Amino acid sequence: MDSTSIGVFDSGVGGLTVLKAIREALPAHDIIYYADTAHLPYGDRAPDEIVRFATGISQYLMERGAAIVAVACNTSSALALQALRQRLSVPFVGMIDCGASAVARASASGRIGVMATVNTVRSRAYTEAIAGRRPGAVVVQQACPELVPLVERGELDGARVRRALREYLGPLMEAEVDSILYGCTHYPFLHKAVREEVGLGVALVDPAREVAREVAREVTRAVDEAEVAPSAGKGAPGRCGGAGAVEFVCSGDPAQFRAIAAELLGWDIPEVEPAEPV
Ligand code: DGL
Repeated sequence: MDSTSIGVFDSGVGGLTVLKAIREALPAHDIIYYADTAHLPYGDRAPDEIVRFATGISQYLMERGAAIVAVACNTSSALALQALRQRLSVPFVGMIDCGASAVARASASGRIGVMATVNTVRSRAYTEAIAGRRPGAVVVQQACPELVPLVERGELDGARVRRALREYLGPLMEAEVDSILYGCTHYPFLHKAVREEVGLGVALVDPAREVAREVAREVTRAVDEAEVAPSAGKGAPGRCGGAGAVEFVCSGDPAQFRAIAAELLGWDIPEVEPAEPV
């Protein structure tokens, strides 16, 4: 793959919700997806570890030809996006701004729930980003540590899922939120169960499409720049294209990742390449 692909990464299968949206928005572009399952879950790891993983993975993706990187992980976006932009030269698209914009638009009452990992909740990244877009909004955050391991096992419903969801959604419903943001990319895979728990009166917001639109804008920007300065054409950083191939790389067990990814996406997943953990 030359330097024209879109890099996407997450701790595991969660970022596939974003990959799917990017694929729909940009079907003819090459994408390389990195699942850092060797270090999963990111949700309660030390913040400096998250920065180290995000930097190493982004460097790897750039070496493999990524000209844009989508940080398809809210925890990494909350804790590492600033460092990535300072340290590395490609454009990065993160989850927080897109998620905050989407939920600020979706909420009528301004009472907003955010489901996220312990790290994302602690960072208050969403609280601040939503306040910036919707002054006066009441943001109720809820850490949901049990959900990522369930999704990684492919367990999208059943007694354990419902028990965890009731525990996490209860406080949000009591706070009378009118919209809930999936502030972790794993959670949209539980959408059916979440919808049944909260009923139809609450908007459930997945930032993935907004992120895909932002990635598409970055691609257009890069193409425009390449036209202004043709020396920055195909093969140079910033210019995306390709034939619509999707490659998968995994730092943990590639066979296990492949099986669950295929089930979650309903795609025929090609061979998953093993990568040394960063
Ligand atoms: N999917 C990630 C997120 O959006 C990380 C989940 C985890 O590894 O804990 O936050």
